[in-house]
Amino acid sequence: MARISSSKYSWLLVFFTLVAISSAQLSSTFYSSSCPSALSTIKSAVNAAVKKEKRMAASLLRLHFHDCFVQGCDGSVLLDDNSTFTGEKTAGPNLNSIRGFDVIDNIKTQVESVCKQTVSCADILAVAARDSVVALGGPTWTVLLGRRDSLTASLSAANSDLPAATSDLSALISAFSKKSLSTTDMIALSGAHTIGLARCTTFRTRIYNETNIDSSFATSLQANCPTSGGDDNTAPLDTRTSSVFDINYYKNLQANKGLLHSDQQLFNNGSADSQVNTYAGNSNKFFSDFTAAMINMGNISPLTGSSGEIRLNCRKTN
Ligand code: HEM
Ligand SMILES: *[C@@H]1O[C@H](CO)[C@@H](O)[C@H](O)[C@H]1NC(C)=O
Ligand SMILES: *[C@@H]1O[C@H](CO)[C@@H](O)[C@H](O)[C@H]1NC(C)=O
Ligand SMILES: *[C@@H]1O[C@H](CO)[C@@H](O)[C@H](O)[C@H]1NC(C)=O
Repeated sequence: MARISSSKYSWLLVFFTLVAISSAQLSSTFYSSSCPSALSTIKSAVNAAVKKEKRMAASLLRLHFHDCFVQGCDGSVLLDDNSTFTGEKTAGPNLNSIRGFDVIDNIKTQVESVCKQTVSCADILAVAARDSVVALGGPTWTVLLGRRDSLTASLSAANSDLPAATSDLSALISAFSKKSLSTTDMIALSGAHTIGLARCTTFRTRIYNETNIDSSFATSLQANCPTSGGDDNTAPLDTRTSSVFDINYYKNLQANKGLLHSDQQLFNNGSADSQVNTYAGNSNKFFSDFTAAMINMGNISPLTGSSGEIRLNCRKTN
């Protein structure tokens, strides 16, 4: 009798363990026993890359965003095209635009050398995004972990789901809402544009044809972004402090000095203005909303349990 109930208990344990594994949620301690040095390895590599080139922090932060908005945070953005596979790298918002793949490869190599096939590329992107923000003076947060890597990617979803610089406020709100992110999250996450650069092709119409732009700001950008040619010439998204993670992005918006059309949409006599005013005057509030929104973004449809895989090379499936 004792034996029967003990074996029944064992089966119950197996059952609940399977349920727990198959519906696993992300957890801050996911690698605590399987790869205790994962986070410190990633942090050192991010710091070294940012020390070499400050912009890399911006590029790594953006990679996590472009990963999460397409099929969820599953490393799909990292997959290279080849003769039989088309990934996301040639999508409009990504082509000649997203960067940092060599840094991710280097981080992955270092992480593989301490823990073989344990830490996913999707988690590396999430941690590198956090470490990048911290490296440029921004807030820190606890990254939830346990994402696995996709076996697929989607060029069409990258084209449809990543918001464009030509978007109006309503399109921005709806692009984030499709990913279960609130308007508050959208306005806070846009503060990522406090760091990094944008290409002339993404802001040309704004500096020549828009009226809700400071005229001397517009003129100052035109020399390096002519009406034709110079598409890939860059300008800082935050005209004041493009290598510091701060509230100047929002102060620029108040002065009609948003670089992208989509940026200035957040301060254009519309419903987002009041939140921009709040952040422009309260960096603690911006930081706490930004970190909460990064966690929400990092939770978009992860692959967990036995879904997907742990890639050996972030650029291709195993
Ligand atoms: C709200 C909608 C958004 C739009 C329309 C948008 C659009 C853009 C565009 C057009 C660029 C310049 C790309 C180029 O010149 O090739 C850019 C750069 C950047 N974006 Fe966004 N973005 C948005 C939201 C976000 C979010 C949510 C994040 C991260 C949390 C982010 C992080 C960045 C960063 C850091 C850069 C600079 C990258 C670098 O210097 O390499 N953006 N974005
Ligand atoms: C500005 O608008 C005019 C009139 O619509 C158009 O012909 C021109 O191409 C636009 N210029 C830029 C740089 O977008
Ligand atoms: C916003 O409203 C102010 C005050 O009425 C006005 O001066 C400004 O031109 C408006 N801006 C836009 C972009 O409509
Ligand atoms: C092409 O890429 C896909 C996705 O990463 C991969 O599964 C496949 O093995 C690659 N093919 C070649 C020939 O490398």
